[in-house]
Amino acid sequence: MRETTSDINVCIAGTGSYVPARILTNAELAVMVDTSDEWIFSRTGIRERRIAAKDEFTSHLATNAAVQALTQAGLAPEDLELIILATITPDTLTPATACYVQQRLGAHRAVAFDISAACSGFLYAMKICKRLISDGAFNNALIIGADKLSSITNWEDRATCVLFGDGAGAAVLRRSKPGEGAIIATEMGTDGNLTHILSVPGGGTACPITPDNVNDHLQTLSMQGKEVFKVAVNRMKEAAEMVIKRAGWQAEDIACVIPHQANRRIIDAIADRLAVPNERVFINLEKYGNTSAAAVAIALDEAHRTGVFKRGDHIVLVVFGAGLTWAAAAIRW
Ligand code: UT7
Repeated sequence: MRETTSDINVCIAGTGSYVPARILTNAELAVMVDTSDEWIFSRTGIRERRIAAKDEFTSHLATNAAVQALTQAGLAPEDLELIILATITPDTLTPATACYVQQRLGAHRAVAFDISAACSGFLYAMKICKRLISDGAFNNALIIGADKLSSITNWEDRATCVLFGDGAGAAVLRRSKPGEGAIIATEMGTDGNLTHILSVPGGGTACPITPDNVNDHLQTLSMQGKEVFKVAVNRMKEAAEMVIKRAGWQAEDIACVIPHQANRRIIDAIADRLAVPNERVFINLEKYGNTSAAAVAIALDEAHRTGVFKRGDHIVLVVFGAGLTWAAAAIRW
């Protein structure tokens, strides 16, 4: 009998993550700008973040995470068919950072390209790959969320520089074998009316960086924090509810919620609205801050490797970012 796409489940066969060695603490930031550990921790839940070295690019972070994910999946780089890398801090504007990763991994058969969906990129990539694998276009795929946000941070702006860090997370997706888990439901959305509340205004065609404006910090992240906060809570809640409903689950069926790691208060608000107890929400932003596309991917890998959930458990991933963009996934592990 001919297999239909609805018969084909896609699972996560391996995860990986990498953060740079250099730790930047809140106390160090308090020397650089007018802030304090007390303000940063109470408003965000962040204690420290990782900062990549000058010669450590997004592709290096991504490759390190990818190697772990491939190893865990038992997939040789030469058997990899697709790499989608989500980032807003590419090594170069072109070629795509995924191409450098393909070369470093020796994944010479893999089609490789980047997507730009800010902090939502990893789950955008997951949805794209789930569909491409279930449609039969590819047998397996590597998705990576990797960002070197330190390279686009305004280190004189206390409202943003305390929030961000560098890192990468990866996952290998492939067709499920009988008895294995599955990505059950995915959701993503965008509101282009809100491009202005979180952006890097300069460096593109709208505002090229010139000798005259180079000192205006236009090539760094600018954000209306309060506005982003409000939209993030509402959209993440709706996206999570949507995938939970489509999966046919109730709040009590969920073993673990892994949200975008941007702000502890945003995470608490979502857990509350979803009626999921705090102990079933995975949080690691205390150590890494907001690493954009990498955040949910690093959290997924850490939760997986430390046994926070086990085979058969129901988990929900949910994210938001510049765009504004948002996404969620319901996964039976
Ligand atoms: O991946 C998506 C990325 N974006 C986000 O997730 C951002 C979402 N938003 C947030 O997380 C929060 O809005 C922030 C953490 C950015 C800010 O928290 P807030 O509670 O919304 O603070 P606020 O912007 O209303 O600022 C309160 C006060 C202000 O002073 P005044 O006007 O009350 O005198 C700020 O100037 O805190 C001041 N402030 C700081 N003080 C010490 C802002 N940043 C700092 C700082 N240290 N780093």
